[in-house]
Amino acid sequence: MFNPKMNYHDYLQIDKLLSAQKPESEARGHAAHDEMLFIVVHQVYELWFKLILTELDSILTIFRGERVDERLMDLIVARLQRVIEIQKHLVDQVRIIETMTPLDFLEFRDLLIPASGFQSHQFRMLETKLGLKRDQRMRYNQSEYDQLLKPEQRESMAELDTQSTLFECVDKWLERTPFLKMQGFDFWNLYKQTVQDVLTHDLKIIQSNPALGAADRERNEKILQMSLDAFYALFDENKYNQARAAGDWRLSYKSVHAALLIQLYRDQPALQLPFRLLTALMDMDEYFTTWRQRHALMAKRMLGSKVGTGGSSGFQYLKDAADKHKVFGDLFQLTTFFVPRSKLPVLPKEVERELGFHFSK
Ligand code: HEM
Repeated sequence: MFNPKMNYHDYLQIDKLLSAQKPESEARGHAAHDEMLFIVVHQVYELWFKLILTELDSILTIFRGERVDERLMDLIVARLQRVIEIQKHLVDQVRIIETMTPLDFLEFRDLLIPASGFQSHQFRMLETKLGLKRDQRMRYNQSEYDQLLKPEQRESMAELDTQSTLFECVDKWLERTPFLKMQGFDFWNLYKQTVQDVLTHDLKIIQSNPALGAADRERNEKILQMSLDAFYALFDENKYNQARAAGDWRLSYKSVHAALLIQLYRDQPALQLPFRLLTALMDMDEYFTTWRQRHALMAKRMLGSKVGTGGSSGFQYLKDAADKHKVFGDLFQLTTFFVPRSKLPVLPKEVERELGFHFSK
């Protein structure tokens, strides 16, 4: 086992790594001090992207199998947790690049045109593997998002479009969730009544709240009515599919029920791990959005209203992308229809037994 040739420097290919920083300003004969920071920070991000992709690929391999081995669920959640820890780090690192002042950035910024973060192939792969679809993406300069990538990278993105994404895998997995049929127990009708009561109660609070002026009251009533309409659509497959086609939902009709059930009865032993999975997916989605927002704010600070080196509107594009480029948004929407535990329909003993860990002799 012992290998005398094993050496820290060679194993980690440190020479290669440390010879990969070539400031353009230096090459042009007027070195800008902060360009080294700019290059190193981007390279570190790309390394973290590589690790996230590795974790994501391993999760996709498990999910894409004939059937998902439930014993591997814990491993999937653990790997997602690793991704989330990396993401927190990605958000914090923005502070490091912000130690560069906008004036110092201007010392070398124009030398970078037309290079841009738009060309981060790994970032695009990440978004796509998670489930951001081509037709969901914002366009800029009337072009597809991958126009600025190298031809071979564009080909790899087209190939990725044909593979199932994490979102699609989770959708299928949710569809297969047992326990949706409650052995004759009419759970969904009872739950419908409960949510209806809770939202109607909320409506009464709005109507009788003396702190609200007429305009605010009307606005809040409208929002609540929309929530009720959206809730009823959850129990009408045709209506739900219409809303889904309009882009209001992404999960399938069956999956949305499974996700709701998992969240509501997450205390039941059989649903604890599925609940942790859904929570991890929400955390991951939220941290991506947080990074996008943080990056947009940093770009605003550096550029003001200037356009980006890749030709986008700069801050505005990044802000809109943070709003629109989400993948697991459905899981956040479902929270609208949660009710306090004390109001949840009580599960019959035999259903509870199914959802619990029990031993039979
Ligand atoms: C001085 C620092 C930075 C500024 C001013 C900046 C600015 C911008 C702007 C304006 C865009 C929009 C595209 C364009 O028109 O070029 C963009 C996109 C992007 N940047 Fe940065 N950026 C900076 C640092 C970073 C760092 C450190 C990363 C880390 C990898 C990064 C990754 C990206 C990515 C992935 C995109 C594409 C985002 C999307 O399409 O949603 N940027 N950046």
